[in-house]
Amino acid sequence: MIIAQLSDMHITAPGTLYQGLIPSADMGRAAVDAINAVSPAVDVVVCTGDLTEHGRPEEYAQAREILGALNAPCFVLPGNHDEREAFRAAFLRDGYLPESGPLHYARVIDGLHVVHVDCTVPGEHHGALPDEGLDWLDKTLTAEPDRPTMVLMHFHPVHTGIADVDSYRNFSGVEIGEIIARHPQVLRVLFGHIHRHMTVAFGGTIAMSSPSTVSQILLRLNPTDKSASRMEPPAFLLHHLHADGTMVSHTQPIGDFGPVLDFY
Ligand SMILES: [Fe+2]
Ligand SMILES: [Fe+2]
Repeated sequence: MIIAQLSDMHITAPGTLYQGLIPSADMGRAAVDAINAVSPAVDVVVCTGDLTEHGRPEEYAQAREILGALNAPCFVLPGNHDEREAFRAAFLRDGYLPESGPLHYARVIDGLHVVHVDCTVPGEHHGALPDEGLDWLDKTLTAEPDRPTMVLMHFHPVHTGIADVDSYRNFSGVEIGEIIARHPQVLRVLFGHIHRHMTVAFGGTIAMSSPSTVSQILLRLNPTDKSASRMEPPAFLLHHLHADGTMVSHTQPIGDFGPVLDFY
């Protein structure tokens, strides 16, 4: 089974650019084309938040049109740049989002338990999961103790070492990690938000972030550095669940990198 993870697409309204500079819709289409080109075919696509830049209905309409070109079913989760009710209004028709409250949901897809946790705090750039959300996560994982599982969220639940970015992490990371540690069936905790790839041990399992399909945040590790971004290669993650239960995660840059150089 192959799961593609898109993150931080920051889709804007037609005729506009992300941050006034970046054609996020075109870059989103390139990401979709790259996922559709994977062989063997991707089974499911997950999007770990910041689907749009401002959370406006016209942006969600554009995002739906872009994601609608995927060959595989797609499941979306909001980030801090999304707006919960506009997000719900845009995707409720697909039948997997709750009709009220936080946009948590879980599904079993081809034997894989895929758990989406909405850690957005309306009006804020950091994430958090209140007690009800922590209970939901624990109960959801308790209900499927024997299935391979991935837990998806938008915000990094650990410090990255990029100081400015860490000021808007998931403030409930410690509590989430304690829950994850009680459920050894969790193969991955997956997130976005930091616009670059990172891998870290978390809650007794492996946590990692997907790069953005638009710009990437600079790797600045001095404590006094300010965060900034630039057009490093966009990418997505490809999580390959093997028949023996091993999950291998790949980072795939998106773009034209010239001719293939065959080994023989
Ligand atoms: Fe983002
Ligand atoms: Fe974000």
